[in-house]
Amino acid sequence: MAASNTSLICVNDYEKAAKGVMKEAAWAYFSAAADEETTFNECPAAYKRYYLIPRILRPIEERTLSTTVLGETISFPVCISPTAYHKFAHPEGEKATSKAAKSCDTLMILSSISTTRLEDVAEVAPGGLRWMQSYMFQDKQLFEILVRRAEASGYKAMVLTVDDPREGKRYKTIPYGYVGIYEADGMGMANFDVDIEAVRKAKVTGDKNLTRYGYEQTNSYATWNYVKWAKTITNLPIVVKGVISPASAREAVEAGVHGILVSVHGGRQLDGLPPPIEMLQRIVKIAKPAGIEVYIDGGVRTGTDVLKAIALGAKAVFVGRPVLWGLALKGQQGVQDVLEIYRDEFDRAMSLTGCKTIKDIDSTLVLHKSNLHTAKL
Ligand code: FNR
Ligand code: LAC
Repeated sequence: MAASNTSLICVNDYEKAAKGVMKEAAWAYFSAAADEETTFNECPAAYKRYYLIPRILRPIEERTLSTTVLGETISFPVCISPTAYHKFAHPEGEKATSKAAKSCDTLMILSSISTTRLEDVAEVAPGGLRWMQSYMFQDKQLFEILVRRAEASGYKAMVLTVDDPREGKRYKTIPYGYVGIYEADGMGMANFDVDIEAVRKAKVTGDKNLTRYGYEQTNSYATWNYVKWAKTITNLPIVVKGVISPASAREAVEAGVHGILVSVHGGRQLDGLPPPIEMLQRIVKIAKPAGIEVYIDGGVRTGTDVLKAIALGAKAVFVGRPVLWGLALKGQQGVQDVLEIYRDEFDRAMSLTGCKTIKDIDSTLVLHKSNLHTAKL
């Protein structure tokens, strides 16, 4: 296990180490966030504003970390957020990540702009639990093709990213240019290589145009009607990713989604947003009565962060960059090591707060700093 490596003891150690092995442009892309990166910095910091209020001397010797997401069992509630371009991190790319997720018995959301075709990602890890992320592509035909392929390959849900009508301004990547970063390594958006007229046209002059086409497709001014339409073309559950305001959560409930991933896209889109953990409880209050599961990502870096998110109502947490750090360092093994750190730390956090199962983790275990001296305990 990773804990035996004394330089890679916690998740944050992987960030420093990964930076050392990655190409400058790739690191710029992975680490980038929007504008002054205020929201990005707030995401992990906000977790530390919650204190843990443990219960002691409880019968916790035999603990169970497993839970379910949309009815499927995972061995612990830490899953993989969709991130693009895994081959920037490691030549085995998304295949390595997929095998790691399966090996740790958890859920992976595959980015639609992956460097490996979604079919291949599924094929290397039979029996693994996967959801497919998609932007609301301008070309609905492209979206529908992706949905059909995801269905055929056994993906269990469609995750619609709803916070990306256009890309946030990321100072770090501007010197390279978005498309420029990918051209450098000749990597394409593997899932866009489909046989439709628009793609055929875009490909006329090669991969570069395909990537440009794919990039343009991700920028769409879709509305809730797109989400509602998506529901009509598939029986797969629909999860919306990128909800941070309670008003949007209400609209998501009205649109009939099955899950809400509370997220600020790792601070890469709109700067100035509150950190997800601060909005979680309010969104759970809206979604839970409607039977909708709520998840969270952004800045989850320790097992106690995971426990706090579960206590405040998340069904599971997702992690983005930490997976990329592990992948960059050691491929599949690196991703597994990172996930195992989360598992180990979360298990400790459960033990130390007196929790035997996920059901024992409730809101009485956490207290926002601002309530420390006034809350009834
Ligand atoms: C992302 N994210 C993202 N989200 C999405 O819906 N589709 C995508 O393709 C990507 N791609 C992507 C690439 C990179 C390099 C990063 C860092 C992030 C956002 C991602 O799913 C997630 O919301 C955040 O990464 C969560 O924050 P942490 O865990 O990185 O702090
Ligand atoms: C990003 C896009 C791919 O965050 O969602 O880079």
